[in-house]
Amino acid sequence: MDSKQLAASVQGYVVETRHRLHEHPELGFHETWTTDLIAAELEKLGLTVTRFDPTGLMADIKGGKPGRMIALRADIDALPVTEHTGLPFASKIDGTMHACGHDTHTAMLLGAARALVSVRDELPGTVRLIFQPAEEIVKGAKRVVAQGALEGVSMIFGQHIAAMMPVGMMATAPGPSAAASDQFVIRVHGKGCHGAMPQTGVDATLAAANIVTALQSVVSREIAPAEPAVITVGKLVSGTAGNIVSGEAEMAGTVRTFNRELRQQMPHSIERVAKEIAAAYRCTAEMEYEFSVDVLVNDPAATAVALGAIRKVVADPASIPTSLPKQMGAEDFAEYTSCAPAAFAMLGAGGSYPQHSDHFCVDESAFQTGVAFLIQVAADALSA
Ligand code: NI
Repeated sequence: MDSKQLAASVQGYVVETRHRLHEHPELGFHETWTTDLIAAELEKLGLTVTRFDPTGLMADIKGGKPGRMIALRADIDALPVTEHTGLPFASKIDGTMHACGHDTHTAMLLGAARALVSVRDELPGTVRLIFQPAEEIVKGAKRVVAQGALEGVSMIFGQHIAAMMPVGMMATAPGPSAAASDQFVIRVHGKGCHGAMPQTGVDATLAAANIVTALQSVVSREIAPAEPAVITVGKLVSGTAGNIVSGEAEMAGTVRTFNRELRQQMPHSIERVAKEIAAAYRCTAEMEYEFSVDVLVNDPAATAVALGAIRKVVADPASIPTSLPKQMGAEDFAEYTSCAPAAFAMLGAGGSYPQHSDHFCVDESAFQTGVAFLIQVAADALSA
């Protein structure tokens, strides 16, 4: 089996399918058109599709020889971004865009499915294709795992296209690679009054502004400098007019960590700062905290299989980095890494705009490497 040749044979199909997906982006748990398209493409290959509730699906390619089951995962959702790429296949859905490249992941997995079906007699075992919804809101993986997506799966692999990384370059490394991502909302309660007579009220804006500032000291003063952590308050809403002291403020933020113990400690530190700073300004504060995505930990054995496959499919194996910088962005694939040995790889796609930009675009020649990787890693994991 020649994975590069197989990938080349489906490249036209992958590009064309990607354009169809790109034109019709859908947000997490609303990917009904996308799910129907994927189902139709898989059914054309003679595969039986199992749909997830509410969106997404999986299908198994049973090989001609007995063996275990491994899984390949692609995410299928888009972002609330208005596209400004000017591409002929730009989004036709107002305010929604495939700005993270999940359309490319879906198209590449469909291409790999087509290729794997053509060589299924050679496969010792089963390849499960998982098309996961709602990665961007980091809820999809949990949902499909709860619906049995990983039952019987002995190893799982995924990949993410990476803007601004050299085209066709691939990378993965064992150990933690993407941060845990959790979120909080803090509500500050004061007492509204006339802006000219602040002494008659309690200013929630002032307290909230000081909470935002003080939260940064959690990372800089309570956490070891070598331990990566981020607290970002991305939203702060308070008041109704310039001449009214605001009685209520609300902020929302995200917390990123790699260390599981530190992850558990964060809500306590944030709540303490919020409540005590609020009290200093005669306000009260309350916090809601939600643990969203765990750390993505690449399993050493699965990563070894993935690296072996990468070496076979990239143009220049010497370009494969020996380690990867930890990145604070979360990836819902993390959910699988605590269920089965898993490895997640990055695929360089060039371009000069970052992921989530309204100008995000990729070099489509990268798909050939990505598809070859999926085919190769499936075959290697089954025969490992
Ligand atoms: Ni993404």
